[in-house]
Amino acid sequence: MKVTVVGAGNVGATCANVLATREVANEVVLLDIKDGFAEGKALDIWETAPINLYDTRTVGSTNDYSKTAGSDVVVITSGLPRKPGMSRDDLIATNAGIVKTVTENVMKHSPDAILVIVSNPLDVMTYCAYLNANIDSKRVFGMAGILDTARYRAFLAEELNVSPKDIQAVLMGGHGDTMVPLPRYTTVGGIPVNEMIDADKLDAIVERTKKGGGEIVNLLGTSAWYAPGAAAAQMVEAIVRDQRRVFPCCAWLQGEYGVNDLYLGVPVILGKNGIEKIIELDLNDDEKELLRTSEAAVRDVKGVLDRLSL
Ligand code: NAI
Ligand code: 2OP
Repeated sequence: MKVTVVGAGNVGATCANVLATREVANEVVLLDIKDGFAEGKALDIWETAPINLYDTRTVGSTNDYSKTAGSDVVVITSGLPRKPGMSRDDLIATNAGIVKTVTENVMKHSPDAILVIVSNPLDVMTYCAYLNANIDSKRVFGMAGILDTARYRAFLAEELNVSPKDIQAVLMGGHGDTMVPLPRYTTVGGIPVNEMIDADKLDAIVERTKKGGGEIVNLLGTSAWYAPGAAAAQMVEAIVRDQRRVFPCCAWLQGEYGVNDLYLGVPVILGKNGIEKIIELDLNDDEKELLRTSEAAVRDVKGVLDRLSL
């Protein structure tokens, strides 16, 4: 198995490192446009192999896509990260140009690849990759829901003083402040979360989750990478090992949840073919309304991309 990660910055290098350490593929190619950058990161990761005891080869490439040829999965993280005071949507024009070019180059050399998009604004960059990849939407999807639920699960684990392993959750909608955490579908070791926590504390955790990306940006002056890189690697692992994991992912909707022609976060089954199935939950009226609000926010950004006519 061969996996390419485009963008050897914070998220891309972290993702490559997790993939290598977990031996998810035989070869991980890290590609970046900055001269020598991917080679340097890849070499540094490869030099951890004798310490961390794994076999995966990590190789770097400065914009030479021939080295990515025949990749089974490609993760696209290239683009600018968010800076303080910058919304994810501010990034759209620059990152759309990057995602378009990268997608075209990737598909030329790996026509059978499955694409996992990470670049922001996530839902619309995933759409941008889909427009330029010319492949089935089951093979083009985005990473956000695993990260957003991980934040939610981490905050809950801390509040309840339990293992994060025992918190199960699903979250829907766009990757932004309108995301829709779903407490009704959250359990702690199988126990509905509202039996374990007061409503006001749960509400505060939901609100913190929605702003979880911004919280890190304010602390670091750039966006997060450990959790995003690990989340993207978890998606790659589900595909490469055909695990049929149930994850919230950014998927192309054609009528599901009453949404048409839009990439939006929904629970899916992830396996060797990419999105094996989109799971349709029976949302209540409040949840449906929150999803509509999130859909409208993503449509606004999609409108910006459509008007750019890239
Ligand atoms: P970074 O700046 O550390 O890395 C981005 C890399 O992309 C840089 O090394 C840059 O040289 C490279 N790059 C730019 N144009 C390129 C091109 N045409 N071809 C190949 N490489 C190119 O940024 P970071 O922190 O790794 O974030 C990457 C992206 O991921 C950003 O758009 C960020 O907003 C997004 N992100 C998304 C998350 C999500 O949940 N979906 C979470 C965290 C970040
Ligand atoms: C995050 O949620 C900024 O999308 C990035 O950390």
